[in-house]
Amino acid sequence: MRVLTGIQPTNVLHIGNLFGALIPAVELQDEHELYIMIADYHSITVPQNPETLSESILLNAAAYLAAGINPTKTVLFQQSQISAHTELAWIMQSQTHMGEMKRMTQFKDKSGDKADAVSVGLFTYPILMASDILLYDAEGVPVGHDQKQHVEITRDIGQRFNKTFGETFVIPKPIIRKHGARLKSLTEPEKKMSKSAASAKSYISLMDEREIVHKKIRSAVTDSEQIITFEERREGLYNLLTIFSLCTGKSGEDLAHEYAEGGMKNLKDDLATALSDYLDPIQAKMKELLENKDELKRIIANGSVAAEKIATAKLVEVKKKIGVVL
Ligand code: ADP
Ligand code: TRP
Repeated sequence: MRVLTGIQPTNVLHIGNLFGALIPAVELQDEHELYIMIADYHSITVPQNPETLSESILLNAAAYLAAGINPTKTVLFQQSQISAHTELAWIMQSQTHMGEMKRMTQFKDKSGDKADAVSVGLFTYPILMASDILLYDAEGVPVGHDQKQHVEITRDIGQRFNKTFGETFVIPKPIIRKHGARLKSLTEPEKKMSKSAASAKSYISLMDEREIVHKKIRSAVTDSEQIITFEERREGLYNLLTIFSLCTGKSGEDLAHEYAEGGMKNLKDDLATALSDYLDPIQAKMKELLENKDELKRIIANGSVAAEKIATAKLVEVKKKIGVVL
């Protein structure tokens, strides 16, 4: 199966991103033809500092590679290096209804009460995402819950085009990982772990050193019940056991059993150690990659050349179908 996923480049990556996006991508690599896109044209829909943006693109590429993406097997590329994405997005904007875009809940969340002051790009962004996916005839699209609606609109846009102009696009399906798909904030466990949280104590960054990991886990919010159990209603504890499970491969139930009487402090100490051990080799590899930026840029450029071949062929087919090729 051909699978495509994308991530908006950010200057902070946390373990929610690692376990919710990066590791699942690595797991898909062996069995599928995988395309991973750094969606830099999505990120400029909100203001970006140019220097930070280019640093973030490299950081995110390095994180995928450090997590285990093999660039000779998987196509790792940068969206803005392939103009077919924005060109198809323009064509698709003309095939998409205002009402469909107005239903997108992420736009409503992100624009809040400032809907007139945000960029037009933030509003039409799902159409660029649809174009990213449709250009590659991707069958599967790994995304978090928040992006599910965007894959659904991609299906609608693709199906409409196929109906109007004849069979052109493969209609994709979202791939959503159940377990660990949504890590929670360490300080407010009812919220998701996010880099946009007010306090850096609420997440563990991929760059956090061992002592910081220990400090953050030790101060993570749990509840006052004495016995350790693995139950969703105990949000903070449930989240810690989920993280523990993700970095050891043991089940949350087994871990709860193991620590049932041992107390929260033991659990937190051992979790912090297990998590740091898990992050160590990833951090070392990221550091090494970021010390040789030319090599990193070369990997991204190679991937982009490979992706462009496919994208351009599809775009030509679309342009013929709509009647602009003379
Ligand atoms: P953030 O909320 O930190 O800004 P993004 O929205 O940039 O994160 O998400 C980038 C990727 O990481 C997406 O694929 C998203 O589903 C995944 N992701 C983000 N936060 C979490 C989380 N708390 N748990 C699991 N996956 C997450
Ligand atoms: N919009 C996605 C996000 O913010 C990133 C993205 C852009 C993407 N294009 C994509 C994800 C195509 C999957 C497929 O997380």
